Amino acid sequence: MRILVTGASGLLGLNVALEAVAEGHTVFGVVNAHPLRGDGFTVLVSDLLAPGEVERVFEAARPDWVIHCAALANLDACERDPDLARGLNAALPGRIAAAAKERGACLVHISTDAVFDGQKGNYTETDDPNPLSIYAHTKLAGEYTVEAVYPLADRTSAAIIARVNLFGWSLSGKRSLAEFFFNNLQAGKPMMGFTDVYFSPLLANDLGKVLLTMMAEDLHGLYHVGSKESLSKYDFGVKIAEKFGFDPALIRPTSLAEAGLSVSRSPNLSLCVDKLIHSLPPVTLQLSTNLDRFYELYQQGYPQKLRVMSKE
Ligand SMILES: NC(=O)c1ccc[n+]([C@@H]2O[C@H](COP(=O)([O-])OP(=O)(O)OC[C@H]3O[C@@H](n4cnc5c(N)ncnc54)[C@H](OP(=O)(O)O)[C@@H]3O)[C@@H](O)[C@H]2O)c1
Repeated sequence: MRILVTGASGLLGLNVALEAVAEGHTVFGVVNAHPLRGDGFTVLVSDLLAPGEVERVFEAARPDWVIHCAALANLDACERDPDLARGLNAALPGRIAAAAKERGACLVHISTDAVFDGQKGNYTETDDPNPLSIYAHTKLAGEYTVEAVYPLADRTSAAIIARVNLFGWSLSGKRSLAEFFFNNLQAGKPMMGFTDVYFSPLLANDLGKVLLTMMAEDLHGLYHVGSKESLSKYDFGVKIAEKFGFDPALIRPTSLAEAGLSVSRSPNLSLCVDKLIHSLPPVTLQLSTNLDRFYELYQQGYPQKLRVMSKE
């Protein structure tokens, strides 16, 4: 398949692009401010918000499948620049969906667990979203602009909206929560870990494999895609310390209230993945397996491989 991955310099997009290459697909990755040398895929440099750019990258890639990962995914950046957040997270997905539909390409649009307020946890696809931050509001609006093009109830629709959470190795080495814990633990620096914030993340590489399987299986509609087990961010940090042989005592158990963050965080964003499990052949959704692979990638020099791809 010819696959267009937007956000290919980002945590998810880069790992998805590399997984798609490993599966033998012809991959085109769109980057904007962070140029890179594509390892087995063609890099397209584009500010997708600029006039005519969505059309230009679709013409260049002529994709069968599109995985739209580009976003303003930093909560504080969204609060600082709500117009940019609306442009990237809310309006752009609708334009990508329209371009995909016009050319007969299937679309996976990446959304987030943060559309929920975190009061309940174990969220299913039928639970009502209640976004708390500008990031979450604009990401939910992005789902609606995609749905306006590809109504989710339409069984012939060729679009998937995947609400995800993830961790992994990134181009900068600093993008993901797992890298935050890894970097501080390796440097012997104390850090906070929230004991009252729960999530169900997947390794970006394994999430990429699941997304490719979802497309190959012709799924459509809204899916929650995360690990089967949820855990607190503190416990996640401890698991990383144990996996790499670092001192878990460096992670100070902290509550959200103690941290005094400027943007509201939802306490329990764990996702129920039953719908996904019932729709697919067996896929790796065990957190322990994902953490094992995170460690194996480290042993194989994967973080350095990504660093070499960066042109900065
Ligand atoms: N990270 C998480 O924990 C998490 C959790 C839940 C959901 N998600 C969702 O997963 C998706 C991927 O997140 P991520 O963490 O991989 O994000 P990320 O690392 O911040 O990457 C964002 C990507 O978007 C690209 N981008 C930004 N502005 C652009 C523009 N104007 N034109 C073209 N590309 C542009 C960036 O390109 P440049 O850097 O080259 O400018 C980068 O490749 C997002 O939809 C996010 O909402 C992420």
